[in-house]
Amino acid sequence: MEYVPLEITGAERAFYGESLILLEGAVEEFLSCVRMIRRYQVSLGRRDPVASFQARIKSAESMKAKLRRKGLPVTAASALEEVRDAAGVRLICPFARNIDQMTALIRQIPGIRILREKDYIRSPKPNGYRSYHIILSLPLRFLPRPPEEPVWLEVQLRTLAMDCWASIEHQLKYKQDIENQALIVQELKRCADEIASTDLSLQTIRELIETPARQEEFHADLSG
Ligand code: GTP
Ligand code: MG
Repeated sequence: MEYVPLEITGAERAFYGESLILLEGAVEEFLSCVRMIRRYQVSLGRRDPVASFQARIKSAESMKAKLRRKGLPVTAASALEEVRDAAGVRLICPFARNIDQMTALIRQIPGIRILREKDYIRSPKPNGYRSYHIILSLPLRFLPRPPEEPVWLEVQLRTLAMDCWASIEHQLKYKQDIENQALIVQELKRCADEIASTDLSLQTIRELIETPARQEEFHADLSG
């Protein structure tokens, strides 16, 4: 549960200006809640539901490109008010079940406001992308901020396997000049589906290891 400082350069400072500290605050408040949620689960004798995490402030360059793409003013104000992923946290879980567990625990954080949830796990994107997305805001303890001016944060929850797929697919997206584009898309989709089925098998194995009752059920199923 190590601390990883956010990567912020002069370009982000110049673009986000006084809003930068709000985005950093949103990330830090959320990470601090996640750290305690994890420790609390471990204190109850359960396994840590999170394997690792990443946090970032969207780079000035990609935020400007996104605002232009959406036909919005290229300003810090519209980055904060119109685009909800200037601040982002990715939680990578060992098992698919941990994602439901974590989303339930996140929804219970006092003062949390949830704007939107997208379940790309039960409804994957056509390319095979799977993740659970939540746009949320938390009260910032260091600053009295009116509730009608939330600082939004995009949280992505994935398994290790889903994250592996998304990282590779993301790298390939930028190589538009490759031959056999259609075949690659088709193969990536196949990998995503295989990964989903592997995630399910790994979870079943974990349950077999941890719950003797389930083992009996499993053996009964096999013999029955
Ligand atoms: P954006 O304009 O991309 O933010 O679209 P949106 O607001 O509809 O958000 P969506 O929930 O679809 O996706 C938000 C984020 O999820 C992206 O910025 C990526 O980090 C991730 N994501 C979504 N789709 C894909 C995908 O097909 N592949 C990968 N690798 N990541 C994706
Ligand atoms: Mg986005």
